Amino acid sequence: MTTDTKARRRDRRVYLRAHPVLFALLAATRGRPVRRLGRGTLLVHGAAAYREALTRLPLDRTAPGTTGGAARAARVEDVLFDQEGSGHRTARRELAELLGAAGTRELRSAWHPLLLRRLAPLPLGGTVDLVPLARELAGAVVYALLGPGSGSGSSSGSGPNPGPGPAGDSLALAEAAAEAAAASVRSHLPGPPRPGAEAAAVRAAERLRALLGPGADARAAMLAVAAVNTTVAALPRAVAWCADAGLWDQAADPALCPALTDELLRVTAASPLLPRVAAAGGSVGGCPVRAGDRLLLVARHAAGAHLRDPDGRRPAEPGVARLVFGAGPHACPGARLAREQLAGVLAALAPHRPVVVRARVDRRAALPGWRSLVVRAAA
Ligand code: HEM
Repeated sequence: MTTDTKARRRDRRVYLRAHPVLFALLAATRGRPVRRLGRGTLLVHGAAAYREALTRLPLDRTAPGTTGGAARAARVEDVLFDQEGSGHRTARRELAELLGAAGTRELRSAWHPLLLRRLAPLPLGGTVDLVPLARELAGAVVYALLGPGSGSGSSSGSGPNPGPGPAGDSLALAEAAAEAAAASVRSHLPGPPRPGAEAAAVRAAERLRALLGPGADARAAMLAVAAVNTTVAALPRAVAWCADAGLWDQAADPALCPALTDELLRVTAASPLLPRVAAAGGSVGGCPVRAGDRLLLVARHAAGAHLRDPDGRRPAEPGVARLVFGAGPHACPGARLAREQLAGVLAALAPHRPVVVRARVDRRAALPGWRSLVVRAAA
C-alpha cells in the first residue's frame, strides 16, 4: 500500500463510520457534474456547477434543512448564514475586519503559545491527542474574538481580545459550540422524528450564548459554532493525512508549508456537503432548477478531493482548492484564519515527524471527523 493510499483509506473512515449510505450515494453519483434525484433534489458535484449554484442561483437562506434554516430552528436568527442583502454586507464587513490579515495576525497570540505548550510531550516520547488540542485552539480563538472582555460579546466588536481567555472558559466555550452544532444536526436528520431533539438544540444554543457573556448576540453564537466545528474536524484529519502520506518534509519547509496546508484543507474538505434550497428557478451546470428544489452541493467533489492526492509541490489550482470554503457572498470569512492555524500546527509538529498511534471516529459530531487522534514522535 502506498503512503497516499494509507492516508486516503484512514481518512475515508470518518465518512464511512458516521454516514455510510450518504457517502456511498455521493460516490456513486459523482460521475456527472449535476444529477437530479427524484423530483426535488439535485446533487451538485462539478466545480463549475457548484460555483454557479453559490454565486448565480438565488438561494432560500432560511429554508428548513439548510445551514441558516437549522440556526432558525434552534431559535437563533440573524446569523449571517440566513441573511441577505445590505444587513449581510454590513455584518460581513465587520467580520472581515476581525478576520482579515491584521486581525488574524493578532489572534495568533491567543492560540500559538498554547499549541507549543500542548506539544511539549512529543520530544519526551509522550503522545498528544489532536482532537482536544484542536478544540482548545478553537476555543481560545473564539474566546479572544467574542468572549467577555473582547470588548464586544458579539461579532461586531472592535478587535480581538488581546490575550487568551482562562483555559477553562475557552474550553467550555468550545465544548458548548460543538454540542450546539451536533444537537442542531441531530434535530434535522432525515428519518423518524427524534423526541426532544429540537428542544435539546435550543438548550445547547442557549448555553453557548450564556457562556459568551451578556450582550452576546445570535451571530456571535453562530460564529463560535462555525469556527469550532470546522477546526475540530479539519485539524486532526489534516495532521493524520500528513503523517500517513509522509508529508512532513513539505510541512517543515517554510516555502512549501502554505501550499501543503491548502492541499490538506482541499482533500479533507471539512465541510463536505452544503445543503441549500433554490429560492427561484434557474439552472445549474445546464440542469434546470425549480424554486424549492433542494441542492446538495458536494464541496468535497467540487474541490477534487477524491481525484488528486495532496502535494505542496504541485498544488491544485487555487480557484478549485478554495471551493472547500464555499463561494460568492457567503464564502467562509474564517478561511484565512483556518489556513494560518493549520499551517502553524503543521510547522510545529514537523520537527517531530509524528505518526498516528490511535484514531477513533466521532459518530455524533456535526461534521465528519475524529473523536480522538493520538500521535507520537517517530522513533
Ligand atoms: C477548515 C476550516 C473551515 C472550513 C472548511 C469552512 C467552510 C465553510 C463553508 C463551506 C462555508 C459556507 C460558504 C458558502 O455558503 O458559500 C462557511 C461559512 C462560514 N464560516 Fe467557515 N470554514 C472553516 C473555518 C471557519 C472559521 C475558523 C470561522 C470563524 C472564525 C468560520 C466562520 C464562518 C462563518 C461566519 C460563515 C458564514 C458566512 C456567511 O454566511 O456569510 N469558518 N465556512
